Amino acid sequence: MSEVLAKKAAALDAADELAPHRDLFTLDEGVVYLDGNSLGALPRHVPARMQDVIAREWGHLRIRSWEESGWWTAPERIGDRIAPLIGAGPGTVVVGDSTSVNVFKALVAAVRMAGEGRDEILVDASTFPTDGYVAESAARMTGRQIRALAPAEIVAALGPRTAAVLVNHVDYRSGRLNDLPGMTAAIHAAGALAVWDLCHSAGALPVGLAAYDVDFAVGCTYKYLNGGPGSPAYLYVRADHQARFDTPLPGWNSHEDPFGMRPAYVPGDGATRGRVGTPDILSMLALESALDVWDGVPVEAVRAKSLALTDFFLECVEAYVPAGSVSSVTPAAHAERGSQVSLSCEGAGEVMRALIDRGVVGDFRRPDVLRFGFTPLYVGFADAERAAAELAALLG
Ligand SMILES: Cc1ncc(COP(=O)(O)O)c(C=O)c1O
Repeated sequence: MSEVLAKKAAALDAADELAPHRDLFTLDEGVVYLDGNSLGALPRHVPARMQDVIAREWGHLRIRSWEESGWWTAPERIGDRIAPLIGAGPGTVVVGDSTSVNVFKALVAAVRMAGEGRDEILVDASTFPTDGYVAESAARMTGRQIRALAPAEIVAALGPRTAAVLVNHVDYRSGRLNDLPGMTAAIHAAGALAVWDLCHSAGALPVGLAAYDVDFAVGCTYKYLNGGPGSPAYLYVRADHQARFDTPLPGWNSHEDPFGMRPAYVPGDGATRGRVGTPDILSMLALESALDVWDGVPVEAVRAKSLALTDFFLECVEAYVPAGSVSSVTPAAHAERGSQVSLSCEGAGEVMRALIDRGVVGDFRRPDVLRFGFTPLYVGFADAERAAAELAALLG
């Protein structure tokens, strides 16, 4: 059996049009990296760019770089590089701060926009915890109540009391893809606003923010966008909401005249309203450089390969791993699957440690989930086959 699947992997890799992109990344011989849904791999050209940023732009130009090296305008410029990857138009995405901070900005702004009569914020109960914590605080601050519901229950719970809904596009633990078009339409039909967390979908699948009229979205850049550890997040504000975007964090960087040093806050226009304070330029410029790997890459091609990879990994797991030792918690239906496969298994923490020792790097989420992230720009079918074979060797 293993020979058949190994041959199939080789044929799939040979036919894979994205395979040459692998050479754009720093990868280690003999290591299968399936944790790009946590921290993306390093694009090879980024260190040279960072050397230039540090030695020349910082070292020699110093303060002049805010203007001459484009530091001041980096948040909007890099937002425009991310925009096509998430189906957003130019001028609607700004980069900066963490996802957690952007969830706060987006959710409070959404609640303020929804108006006084609406007193509930619905939040995805299986959300990455930070979103839930921030939503709870946003509810307290704005005098609303929070209701945590399974994503499948959200549409039925919408009503005239709903102000805003915060949902994860892809669930970080199970890899389930939620129905962004359908839920956003239902949220709008109820007169509420939709805030989507794209951390586990941007760079892995088409999102279509503008096509589906999403109100606000946030996401990180260190996973599928390969921006590096702690690289800044982004905030999307729908074009026709921007003039009413009332940020709860009105810092000087979003002022209409930041260097006027005026005591009264007057917001600037467009995506700039999402800015707060001085941007973390080094991380931001590493991200900008990392985004070069997307030049000429259609997100649809990434999605097609991602589904083929996760299908093939599941096929190999089914063939190799002793029956009953693992079960997939990731939906089988393509329409409900992100770009990872999560397997529940007894002693998952120990199993993942042993798997990493064997050169297959995924991660473990309590209590019993092994997560395997498939990043189509640098993971191939032979990697998927090897990961399943090593898992089988451990569990057999
Ligand atoms: C879905 C989701 N939301 C939010 C976060 C938190 O992001 P940050 O630590 O950048 O605030 C993460 C981090 O992994 C995440 O996976």
